[in-house]
Amino acid sequence: MAERILIADDDAVQRRLVENMVQRCGYEAIVVESGEDAVARLSDPDAPAIDAMLLDLVMPGLDGMGVLERIRDAGLNIPVIVQTAHGGIDNVVSAMRAGAHDFVVKPVSAERLQVSLRNALNTHALKGELQRIRHSREGKLTFADVSTRSLAMENVLRAARKAASSSIPVLVEGESGVGKEVIARAIHGSGERSSKPFVAVNCGAIPDNLVESILFGHEKGAFTGATERHAGKFVEASGGTLFLDEVGELPLSAQVKLLRALQEGSVEAVGGRRPVKVDVRIISATNRQLLDLVKAGNFREDLFYRLHVLPLTVPPLRARREDIPHLLRHFLARFCAEENRPITGISGEAMSVLTQLDWPGNIRQLENAVYRAVVMSEGDQLGLADFPQATSPTAPIPSPATVPLVIEQLYHATAPTMVPDAAPLLAAAGSLSMLASDNELRPLEELESEIIRFAISHYRGQMSEVARRLKIGRSTLYRKLDEAAEKNSVSTDDA
Ligand SMILES: Nc1ncnc2c1ncn2[C@@H]1O[C@H](COP(=O)(O)OP(=O)(O)OP(=O)(O)O)[C@@H](O)[C@H]1O
Ligand SMILES: [Mg+2]
Repeated sequence: MAERILIADDDAVQRRLVENMVQRCGYEAIVVESGEDAVARLSDPDAPAIDAMLLDLVMPGLDGMGVLERIRDAGLNIPVIVQTAHGGIDNVVSAMRAGAHDFVVKPVSAERLQVSLRNALNTHALKGELQRIRHSREGKLTFADVSTRSLAMENVLRAARKAASSSIPVLVEGESGVGKEVIARAIHGSGERSSKPFVAVNCGAIPDNLVESILFGHEKGAFTGATERHAGKFVEASGGTLFLDEVGELPLSAQVKLLRALQEGSVEAVGGRRPVKVDVRIISATNRQLLDLVKAGNFREDLFYRLHVLPLTVPPLRARREDIPHLLRHFLARFCAEENRPITGISGEAMSVLTQLDWPGNIRQLENAVYRAVVMSEGDQLGLADFPQATSPTAPIPSPATVPLVIEQLYHATAPTMVPDAAPLLAAAGSLSMLASDNELRPLEELESEIIRFAISHYRGQMSEVARRLKIGRSTLYRKLDEAAEKNSVSTDDA
């Protein structure tokens, strides 16, 4: 699953030479003999994607400049390194202006070629990541940002692209961290509603008694505490898309109201007198089997069929391992830039072991693993040792060196992405923070609320996930939080 490099050169000897070097650098080489063939290969939607191209400038027929032009016209996004004979500097300048990433002079040395290819691939991965993040922030994520190498994923994306051109209700199913929200955003960003709002509601994170008011709004004075009128998420998403994340967590009473809103195309605010027409597209997501919830009587069947019109199942990472190296490179490029670390790549050994791991937390876990590796690594290349999850099949206990980090994260877990994996941290926490500094056992209540705060931070406020992981009910979770808050305010009042 090495990066694929396309080599376009009309000279057979040159082709063989460069092909050899590219392979020795650890990449897969694909060779073509003309500019026409290069363009055909790049624009073939069924052929495996090319990561970079080595392009000879002087060729009969369509020459290098012509290929660059075609690439630009077709909007193909691929780094190109041009090869030129000695003295062809004018051509090089034109080629760089036409979008080439770098140039090498023939005969190129293996070292020069390796550096040029590595830079081109790293820069390209970084550009893609930055663009994806910017698009996500601006609400303009499209399918071009959901890059994948997997056939299973391509099939999902094909259906999603079709869905984007209509307002058909979509239910995105898949394990935690597989990219359900990314796909929901891409559907929104690729359709007619893209200039209108994308409003995400995490149905699992709202206390039961507030669900209706948050979704449908409330009038001033509708209930104790409703000091202002509130429009609600449906109205907020008017003309755009409402993303109902963890829809399976909706309480039954809210399900009734949601069904009515969908049937009638209008919502009624809590305490409101008349329904208001709304035009929203619904995309929902769940990491549970919604049908099982229906069978168990926890989810209304009629609502299920309303939401489930077009189901999309996003495969877990272990079912699309070809995406792992690709994602690793993207995240590496991003975190190196963010953390200002000059790491050039991931060793072949680490890459192949990481590709074989199961990644139960899917893309989110992989992302956090790379983040941690970049921050902690000391070399200029990431190796197996930088990925604790690769060296031990079960959750590893952090080494003494990482203990301060663990404690820091437990107490001030403000940056949840910093937390590599809950299991080892909690394991460490269990043995470490049970004791206070004066060797006294800490009260159970205190430890409990610390664990809850940690879990909320780790699962980014997804309360139903937190409840599930802690094996308590959602209402118990909220009660415990209320109690802790009450205690806190009492003790501050006392002070
Ligand atoms: N194709 C992709 N390329 C790069 N990063 C991705 C891709 N898909 C998802 N991610 C990243 O992976 C993480 C998880 O994605 P997302 O939040 O969409 O998953 P999810 O299925 O909604 O997870 P959960 O069930 O936990 O809510 C995010 O940080 C997201 O940016
Ligand atoms: Mg999500």
